[in-house]
Amino acid sequence: MKGILLAGGHGTRLYPLTTSLSKQILPVYDKPMIYYPLSMLMLSGIRDILVVSTPAALPLYRELLGNGNQWGIQFTYVEQTRPRGIADAFVVGRDFVGESNVCLALGDNIFYGHGLPTILKRASSLRKGALVFAYPVADPTRYGVVEFDQAGKALSIEEKPQTPRSNFAVPGVYFYDNRVLDVAGSLEPSARGELEITDINNYYLEKGELQVEILGRGFAWLDAGTHESLLQAANFVQALQERQGMMISCPEEIALRGGFIDREQFRALAEALQTNRYGHYLLQLLRDEFKEAEF
Ligand code: G1P
Repeated sequence: MKGILLAGGHGTRLYPLTTSLSKQILPVYDKPMIYYPLSMLMLSGIRDILVVSTPAALPLYRELLGNGNQWGIQFTYVEQTRPRGIADAFVVGRDFVGESNVCLALGDNIFYGHGLPTILKRASSLRKGALVFAYPVADPTRYGVVEFDQAGKALSIEEKPQTPRSNFAVPGVYFYDNRVLDVAGSLEPSARGELEITDINNYYLEKGELQVEILGRGFAWLDAGTHESLLQAANFVQALQERQGMMISCPEEIALRGGFIDREQFRALAEALQTNRYGHYLLQLLRDEFKEAEF
């Protein structure tokens, strides 16, 4: 399976922070925002990743992420010349995806939770259909909202409903079979002028081929798209990392634990950062009796 990281949009809700800077490069405590959804792709076992962003911001992502070799993965970059909506990622990413199945991760979505790697590995083994998640939120009107019947079967998904039929939002990590390319290609813009990811999800739902997996209260899903949520996300990451002494969404660590790079490659990354706390953490991982444990 291949991956797409979407880092487009104008981020107007975060102005003036994002007047001259792409939203997904802003810091969430000690890492650029995009490291968090990137980590989701890496934890899914995905190593071939397309980064989609605006013509102005793409060079920043190239500089930040490089070709991916340092983490044992491969990045490809493509411009989205206008923000045409999330589903447009499959239009601009069509050649990259080719014959593969694909996971799309939104560049401002942050996830955390015990057992997430197992859930993601299972999701990325998807052969046919689509798989999305559902997560309870206090204000569902900001999201795609999924309604379930008594048996827990998904009945409908609505984009930003004024009167939500449930409090389950669909977070920004989606797994699809290759048909998603044609489905996206045939979409018409919605009333807000966007190619909606919710329309893609409804295509699979109507065919009975959409799995919706609930992420319950044991998980954190944060989006960092407003001033408040950006600060909340940073505080969350800081609190957990300080308490546990373990980093959330550290690509170097995930690459090592996932076997994408070996200890010597990892050591070189760590030593290059040894003047700061991030680097100290990496070096400490090497000093500890390193086990292939899943935390
Ligand atoms: C988008 C999607 C929405 C989804 C959300 C997750 O919303 O349209 O269905 O629930 O991402 O972050 P937007 O970022 O366009 O407000």
